[in-house]
Amino acid sequence: MPSLAEHLIRWHPLNGRHDLPWQQRRDPYAIWISEIMLQQTQVSTVIPYYQRFMQTFPAVDSLANAPLDAVLALWSGLGYYSRARNLHLAAQRIMQEHQGQFPESRERIQQLPGIGRSTAAAIAVFAFGQREAILDGNVKRILARFFGIAGYPGQPKIQKLLWQQAEAALPADHRGGLIEIYTQALMDLGSTVCTRSKPQCDLCPLQPQCIAWQQQRVAQLPAAKPRKPLPRKETVLLLLQHQQRLLLEKRPSSGIWGGLWCPPEMTIGADAVDYCRQQWGIAVQSPVEMPALDHQFTHFKLRIYPQCLDVAADSRVASPDYIWLKPAEALELGIPAPIRSILMQNFSAGKLPLGKC
Ligand code: ADE
Repeated sequence: MPSLAEHLIRWHPLNGRHDLPWQQRRDPYAIWISEIMLQQTQVSTVIPYYQRFMQTFPAVDSLANAPLDAVLALWSGLGYYSRARNLHLAAQRIMQEHQGQFPESRERIQQLPGIGRSTAAAIAVFAFGQREAILDGNVKRILARFFGIAGYPGQPKIQKLLWQQAEAALPADHRGGLIEIYTQALMDLGSTVCTRSKPQCDLCPLQPQCIAWQQQRVAQLPAAKPRKPLPRKETVLLLLQHQQRLLLEKRPSSGIWGGLWCPPEMTIGADAVDYCRQQWGIAVQSPVEMPALDHQFTHFKLRIYPQCLDVAADSRVASPDYIWLKPAEALELGIPAPIRSILMQNFSAGKLPLGKC
């Protein structure tokens, strides 16, 4: 049965891409620029940027001698600007340390700033016809599916396995342009057929041998990044009540609920009566604990323990960052969703739970 490489080499002439601007040349500089632009950006977006860049900086010396601002200006809109800064720096290194000649081995290319192993391999393949394996995100997906490799590809163990498979899958005979065709075919298959969502398995030359296809695991492979359990935090919210009004504090503009009105927060385990005396000089009755409430933020989970406290009649907290409001009025304000739930759950018909003061 033909190997993965043989299938791809046969598939590419009719199904792959042949007319991309950087494919018309063997110039390592041009290939390098295209590969860096293509790292996080689609081909159709890259093409006009690539053409403008090559017109302005047609060779490594012009890039090395340009002011960084001019390079960044041409990059504007492509994003991930460290790519442009590294290109500029690497061009200067090529001028100073390589006498203006682009290094030819994958290992030496990889030593330039901003060039990882897979990008170095792509340049070595397309510019110098070397037998090197690439392993970008698209290729990881193809190999994980084809060989049925479970596990998250970002995990070092899985990454190592994928590199081994990528090396082992290279065409035995790489000469006569075969390594270039094979490498481009992998890239093209990954971006047009073996896509992350809705892959077109019926058009795939690898389908009969693909383990994920055979086992109906195409949608499951490659495995998604395992989600770490979110850290848990706990806090106490003080529902201070006085004459059917509730004390709300304006939160600092940074941090959770930044700039929103919220009942004051107290560290878990502290004594609410002492805390209120120290913080605001007010006397409060013993707290009544309300049911806890869980809320999930992007980066952590918060368990909120609300405590209701009646404030002695003549107490007032005077500061523009505090207001006393009826619960219905509080609900009109920009208040965080969990605070809204606490208010909705803990008062009925506009009455606060304690209602003594
Ligand atoms: N993505 C990364 N390198 C590419 C290339 N040379 N052609 C098409 N897509 C790519």
